[in-house]
Amino acid sequence: MKTLLLPLIALSVLTIRAQEPTYHKDIAPIILTNCAPCHQPGEAAPFPLLTYEDVAKRASFIKKVVLSHYMPPWRADRTYTHFANERGLTDAQIALITRWVDNKGPEGKPADAPAARPPVPGTLYGRKPDLVLTATDSFHLQGDNGERFVIFKIPFELKDSANVEAIEFFCNNKKLIHHANYAIQAVPDPAIDIKSTVPYVNLTDDDRTKVDQYMPYRRIMSYYGGWIPGASYEYFPREFGWVMPKRGVILLTVHYAPSATDETSICGVNLFFKKTAITRVMKVVSFGSGGIGEQQIEPIFYIKAGTVQTFRLEVTNPSQDQSLLYVWPHMHLLGKEYKAYITTPNGDTIRLVHIPDWDFRWQEIYRFPHPIKVPVGSVIHIEGTYDNTTDNPANPNNPPKNVFSMGDMKTKDEMMTLMMGFLPYKEGDEKIDLQ
Ligand code: HEC
Repeated sequence: MKTLLLPLIALSVLTIRAQEPTYHKDIAPIILTNCAPCHQPGEAAPFPLLTYEDVAKRASFIKKVVLSHYMPPWRADRTYTHFANERGLTDAQIALITRWVDNKGPEGKPADAPAARPPVPGTLYGRKPDLVLTATDSFHLQGDNGERFVIFKIPFELKDSANVEAIEFFCNNKKLIHHANYAIQAVPDPAIDIKSTVPYVNLTDDDRTKVDQYMPYRRIMSYYGGWIPGASYEYFPREFGWVMPKRGVILLTVHYAPSATDETSICGVNLFFKKTAITRVMKVVSFGSGGIGEQQIEPIFYIKAGTVQTFRLEVTNPSQDQSLLYVWPHMHLLGKEYKAYITTPNGDTIRLVHIPDWDFRWQEIYRFPHPIKVPVGSVIHIEGTYDNTTDNPANPNNPPKNVFSMGDMKTKDEMMTLMMGFLPYKEGDEKIDLQ
């Protein structure tokens, strides 16, 4: 018996050894897909995770952040709703990384690497953009700890209009930016000059009337979207989306956070087109601060110093059934918890999004796996809880100050906003796969 068992044990030890994870075979595919898009030069993360050396020298740190689910970042409550763009590692992937780190991170052979797609520089979308529209001037941010609001005008003239599959804000210095919004304005009339107006207006320091030069561009808006810290691109699957006009301007509003050092940045927008037709044109609507129902927030949107308070907004869908494709919650630094859901006229509740532990640094446009039908007469509920005490480490005021805010976008003010991407409902929309 003994003689039989021993070789068996030796054999199984050997096979376990052979299966020990190595970087190239097991770890690189996980890191390149789930981490490298943000952890590459020019993106928001502080260091690259592109090579064996990048990963090996931070192995124990990486083990820590994947075990705690801090990385990849995903703040929405996974037990409340699931999203098409949900980030996260499986338990098996976390176990694999842990084992690899505990084994001192063996490299293995590059030849063992499965065909993983490395990230594409300059974009999180995974392929080269079809059109890159960059501001014609860089912006020099003064290091005086003041916030700046700047509108860049980016003119474009294409051979033809194009169907948009994705749009993405980019900036070579994203850490400066509190948020950015882009309005895609069609300017078909050749008599309206899109080139010789000023390339940007600094709304904080310049004469504000300068922005009047952009008035003629504001007549036809094709799309309105944006970027917030943590967010990636906006994606429009299948026959959904919007059409990039042939001629026009992008009015890109960038809100620079206060900085103690002088900094320069150049920003713009990447566009990805698709060949297939867009038969379902989307709209984006904003509810709450700076949008519909701003005055109906209850109680009045006043966050007393030293308190934790919850505010609510209810808005009714007035005129027709809608299909909802994504939600985009927004609060600032006092945000603690955020929830949005819908109640239908026949008493059903549709969960939209719950962020139990709001973190200003990680915001996202949450895309649903299938369109959500919002019947006419449904009520959209938005609930935001704010922590204006010293227990909130993100509180910009110490000691806390009373915060009263109506659609003001400064970092120290507050917002309770829900942007929604939707379009008129069509029979069968609930079954469409939006992955
Ligand atoms: C959506 C973008 C994004 C993705 C995806 C992402 N990271 Fe990060 N990561 C960041 C940013 C931004 C920071 C810096 C902010 C911070 O530390 O909170 C960061 C910080 C880190 C840190 C330092 C944490 C600290 O406390 O300083 C580690 C380690 C890390 N990431 C590892 C990973 C790993 C491993 C993955 C994949 C499993 C990953 N990240 C995926 C954006 C990302």
